[in-house]
Amino acid sequence: MKQDHHLGEHGERPRGLSRRALLGSGGAAALGLALAGAASPRGSATASEPGRTRVDAAGARQAGVARPRIAQPHLALAVYDLSGDPASVLADLGALILDLVEGRDPALVGLEPGDLTVTVGVGPRLVAAAHPGAPGAEPLPSFPREDIDEQHRGGDVVVQVCASDPLLLPLVLVRVAEKTTALQERWRQRGTRGPDERVRRGHSAPRNLLGFVDGIAVPTTKEEFAASVWIPDGPAAGGTILVVRRMEVDVAAFRSLSVGEQEAAIGRRRASGAPLSGGRIGDDVDLQAKSADGRYRIPADAHARRAHPRPAGVPLMLRRSYSMEEPLGLLFISMQAELSTFTRTLERMSEADALLAFARTTASGSFLVLPGFDRDRPLGSSLFGGR
Ligand code: HEM
Repeated sequence: MKQDHHLGEHGERPRGLSRRALLGSGGAAALGLALAGAASPRGSATASEPGRTRVDAAGARQAGVARPRIAQPHLALAVYDLSGDPASVLADLGALILDLVEGRDPALVGLEPGDLTVTVGVGPRLVAAAHPGAPGAEPLPSFPREDIDEQHRGGDVVVQVCASDPLLLPLVLVRVAEKTTALQERWRQRGTRGPDERVRRGHSAPRNLLGFVDGIAVPTTKEEFAASVWIPDGPAAGGTILVVRRMEVDVAAFRSLSVGEQEAAIGRRRASGAPLSGGRIGDDVDLQAKSADGRYRIPADAHARRAHPRPAGVPLMLRRSYSMEEPLGLLFISMQAELSTFTRTLERMSEADALLAFARTTASGSFLVLPGFDRDRPLGSSLFGGR
C-alpha cells in the first residue's frame, strides 16, 4: 500500500484532487495551488472550509484516528454484537465505507460526504477467538464509579462516524444496519466538539462542556503516534486500541465551584488552558512545581496530575473525546497501542481524581481499531482472513 507522501498519515487531500496530481507537478506547489483554488460546485471551497476536504478511507491505517488532523465537529458511535463470520461482515463493512466516503452510495441522498470518516474496531471476543495473544484480545476491566448494564459494556464491533455535516451520521448508521444484518446494535451515542483553539503550532483542541480546553496533552507528531498510538507489528499492525467511556457529568455541581476550585480540579486555567504550574497552553504541567508556601501548584488530586502519563509509567494516549448533550457529559474516546495505557491511567485517577467525583460512567468498551484497508485488501483481512 502506497502512502500519500505529500499529506501522509496526518494529512488529508482536498476533494477532487487526485493522488497523481499531487505527486506529479512538484508537490508542495501543487498542493498550495490546490488548497487555494480547489473549487466546489459553488466555486467557494478553500482550505479554510475543512468540512469539504475529503479524507481517504483507504490507506495503511484507517481514517478517524490521525486523519483528519483536527477531529470533525460531529460524531456518532455505535456498538454492535456480531453473529456469523467476521471476515465477510467486516469485508462488507469496508466496501460500504469506501462507497460512502467516495460519495457513491445512494443512501447519502445526494449529500456531499465532505470530511466523513467511518472507523471500525472489533471487540475482545472476536480478537481472542482469532488471535488469543493479539492486542485487543483482553477485555476492559471494571472500575469504580461505573453504573453500566450488560447491554452497555463490551460488544463485538464499534463504528465511529465523524463528519462536519451532522446529517450524514444517522444516514451512515442506517446504511450500516441495512448492509450488514449480522450486526445487532447494542447502543449508540452522538457527540459534538466546539471550535478548536490553538494549542501550539500544528495542534489545536476544543473546549468541553466544563469550559476547559480538552485534548492539549496528546500525541501530535508522526513519531509520537508511532511511539504511543499505532500497534507496531503482528496481524494488528497499523491498528490501535480504542477505549470508549460514556461519562455522565454533573455539570451543575462542577459549575457551582469557584473558577479557582474548578482549575484546581483540572490542573489548568479555564480561560487560557495554561498549566497551574505556569507557562502557556501548549506547555506540559510541571508536577514538581511548588508555591512559596510549599504546596504543589498542581494539586495532589488534580486531574492533570492523576492522569499524567509519567507517574503512571505509560506513553501518551490520544484523546479524541466529544461532548454530549443527552446525557450531559463527555463521550471519552482514547486511542493507544496498548490497553494498559488506559487502564493504568484510570487506576491512578480512581485513587484520587477530583474530576471523577462529578462523573459516572454508563457505557464502556475497548476495541481493536483494525489496520487500514482498500478495495484489494478487505477490512479485517489481516486478522480474520479473506472470505
Ligand atoms: C468527565 C471526564 C473527563 C473530562 C471532562 C476530562 C477533561 C480533561 C481536561 C480539561 C484535561 C486538561 C487538558 C488536556 O491536557 O487535554 C485533561 C487531561 C487529561 N485527561 Fe481527562 N477528562 C476526563 C476523563 C478522562 C479519562 C477517563 C481519562 C483516562 C483514563 C483521561 C485522561 C487524561 C489525560 C491522559 C490527560 C493529560 C494529562 C497530562 O498529561 O497533562 N481523562 N482531561
